[in-house]
Amino acid sequence: MIFGASGDLTHKKLMPALYSLMLRRLLPAKFAVVGVARTDGDDDSFRNDMKAAVQRYARDEFREDVWGDLAQSMHYVATDFADDGGENTLQELLTRCDEERGLGGNRVYYLAVPPPAFPTIVEALGKRRSAEGWTRLIVEKPFGHDLASARELNHLLWKHFDEQEIFRIDHYLGKETVQNMNALRFSNGIFEPIWNRQFIDHVQITVAESIGIEARAGYYERAGAIRDIFQNHLLQLLALTAMEPPIDFTAESVRNEKVKVLKALHTPGPKSVVRGQYGRGFIEGEEVVGYREEEGVAPDSMTETFVAAKLYVDNWRWADTPFYVRMGKRLARRETTIAIQFKRAPHPPFGETASEGLRPNVLLVHVQPDEGVSLAIGAKVPGQGMQIRTVHMDFLYGGAFRTGMPEAYERLILDTMLGDGTLFTRADEVEEQWLLVDAIVAAWQRDRPSFPNYAAGTWGPPSADDLLHRDGRSWRRH
Ligand code: BG6
Repeated sequence: MIFGASGDLTHKKLMPALYSLMLRRLLPAKFAVVGVARTDGDDDSFRNDMKAAVQRYARDEFREDVWGDLAQSMHYVATDFADDGGENTLQELLTRCDEERGLGGNRVYYLAVPPPAFPTIVEALGKRRSAEGWTRLIVEKPFGHDLASARELNHLLWKHFDEQEIFRIDHYLGKETVQNMNALRFSNGIFEPIWNRQFIDHVQITVAESIGIEARAGYYERAGAIRDIFQNHLLQLLALTAMEPPIDFTAESVRNEKVKVLKALHTPGPKSVVRGQYGRGFIEGEEVVGYREEEGVAPDSMTETFVAAKLYVDNWRWADTPFYVRMGKRLARRETTIAIQFKRAPHPPFGETASEGLRPNVLLVHVQPDEGVSLAIGAKVPGQGMQIRTVHMDFLYGGAFRTGMPEAYERLILDTMLGDGTLFTRADEVEEQWLLVDAIVAAWQRDRPSFPNYAAGTWGPPSADDLLHRDGRSWRRH
């Protein structure tokens, strides 16, 4: 059951994901999709609307036969869940689906609605839990606005659902390349011995987007980059990079290790976090407006569209090793990378001039685009004499594997049906993430930067560069 069935996420991600799963015969034979939203409609209008969405957004080519199989399992109920009787209609439909399709009372509820709608729906679902089968609840972001509201939401969910039944989405965890971070670290013997403060100089994590806020001013004005990306995707990437090897890959073991990193995470002070907001500029040669000129944004908005920070993980593995992170909208290009920058070789035996073109080793995980991993190493330039230069050993997904890359939502929806929470965030992780964000936001109240402070199409404000220059370092070149 998808709550928010007429929304953007359902059109762009959820239904295309279900279609791709159906195409690969990964959906169970006993299956039905029930769309729920306030918008008027019936089964036919829902099917037509979703067909258009799948044709537009699915990664796979459209096949009538596959769509036909999916469409015949789809139903729609228009209700606001208040007192329009929708709850009863829904209940009757579910009972019918159980009887006709043999669903055995198993339910996946997907909350793809704005947070103010959560309480009514969760209470209603809680009251009518099916006596048979299992129940799972997927909760879309934003999961709260700060620590207090996230805790309140957790308590609301726990009133009716066990923690094991709750699947908090962070769609970055469903990305193949993010899961590959675990494969890279824990299926190769060569990395773990050097994955620590003795060999690693620092880590850089970039989540850059060239798009603006699209039509989401209402949400983004309240969220900003710190809540939209830093609080969830960015901190999860950091946790996966820094965590200890889990004893196995079960949800509990992996999340136990991640939460330890999040607990140990801190910023050394207000000067270690910078924020920015884009002004006018050019993206791929096209002029674009500044954030304050976007539709629905206040002309004097102080919402940040860029954040860069220096963070430390206070434990034996990472003490004194900076994690520099940056994220933002309307940056020069779309790029999500994790760069592990190793220390320089201890002594240059060929002399300083021979190694002028040599940079320290970097293991670069390309989360997107150009998914893959590359290792920067020094190599001799062919010719007489000894000149060393940096070259790259590359692994590209596109070249190594013939299969296409699944969308994150395919994996996450399937994992929910299987009851596997490994790629979802647990309550304590979310709360630790908010704790850090709340501290940063509180410090921000004390000053008022002059926005806009970076032009669209650049790599953020100059203060982001200063953050690293102060430490004698710089952001990875693009
Ligand atoms: C979402 C944010 O969680 O992630 C968006 O709300 C952002 O603002 C998106 O654009 C980025 O996701 P992806 O998968 O395109 O990197």
